[in-house]
Amino acid sequence: MISVYKSAIVTGASRGIGAAVTRAMCSAGVAVTAVSRGSKALDDLVAETGCTALALDLGNTDEVLDRLATVDADILVNNGGVMTQSAPFAQLERDEIHQSVDVNLKGTLAATRAVLPGMIQRQRGHLFFVTSMFGPYAAPNASVYAATKAGVRAFVNCLRLELAGSRVRATEIAPGRVETEFFSAAFGNDKDAMAATLFGKHRALTPQDVSDALMGALQMPEHADVNRIEITSTDQALGGMIYAEKPE
Ligand SMILES: NC(=O)c1ccc[n+]([C@@H]2O[C@H](COP(=O)([O-])OP(=O)(O)OC[C@H]3O[C@@H](n4cnc5c(N)ncnc54)[C@H](OP(=O)(O)O)[C@@H]3O)[C@@H](O)[C@H]2O)c1
Repeated sequence: MISVYKSAIVTGASRGIGAAVTRAMCSAGVAVTAVSRGSKALDDLVAETGCTALALDLGNTDEVLDRLATVDADILVNNGGVMTQSAPFAQLERDEIHQSVDVNLKGTLAATRAVLPGMIQRQRGHLFFVTSMFGPYAAPNASVYAATKAGVRAFVNCLRLELAGSRVRATEIAPGRVETEFFSAAFGNDKDAMAATLFGKHRALTPQDVSDALMGALQMPEHADVNRIEITSTDQALGGMIYAEKPE
């Protein structure tokens, strides 16, 4: 099935889940445009995989609309995202509220708006939305992040109704905890503290696990549309903040 899809845009490609997805797609012969803010990590990914880098701030939605509309993509992976500090809403800074909404929600809408008309015209496309357990399930100290991810879920739910008959598929992937640098802002950029707290005692998903789930949905035959995947570590209860200790 993947041979139908020849080109992809992956946002948040410089590391973590997006880098794993970029590697998997490039290995499968898909021409990937890898989007994140410019960095050495993004350059290294180009050298490693042969993808094309596109340096773009997802929070700059006008630029996202203009620049992604020039890329004919069969696949769009809306993955780039940010987290606020882990704190009650009343203590969040104005800038981090804006940034989360701009990048996670408005950036996703802009990227989708840029590529979707071409997919509809070609009658070929697969949209992916990496959301989160924070969104459908409540958790303290992540209210703005959860609101952005719940907003994306609501958006995709409506979009699917509009896309019926278009042959454009839409898959939301809601992971539990994944071992990446994503929560470093929540730990004041102390990556060691983050790793010890989040990944020291409990097994988490790897970026590869999420990429494997995504590639599985992509490789389904064209008549089958995997609408939503909720995936956690086996040690994390679905939706909850309940984690089993790592096995001996
Ligand atoms: N890790 C988890 O436990 C977890 C769980 C559920 C869902 N998720 C979701 O998974 C997605 C990927 O996260 P990850 O865990 O792989 O985190 P990560 O390793 O921190 O990667 C985040 C990616 O987003 C990019 N990004 C951040 N701000 C951006 C901006 N303004 N413009 C363009 N790109 C930007 C980063 O690139 P640059 O900084 O280089 O620009 C990076 O490539 C996110 O949407 C997150 O909400 C993660």
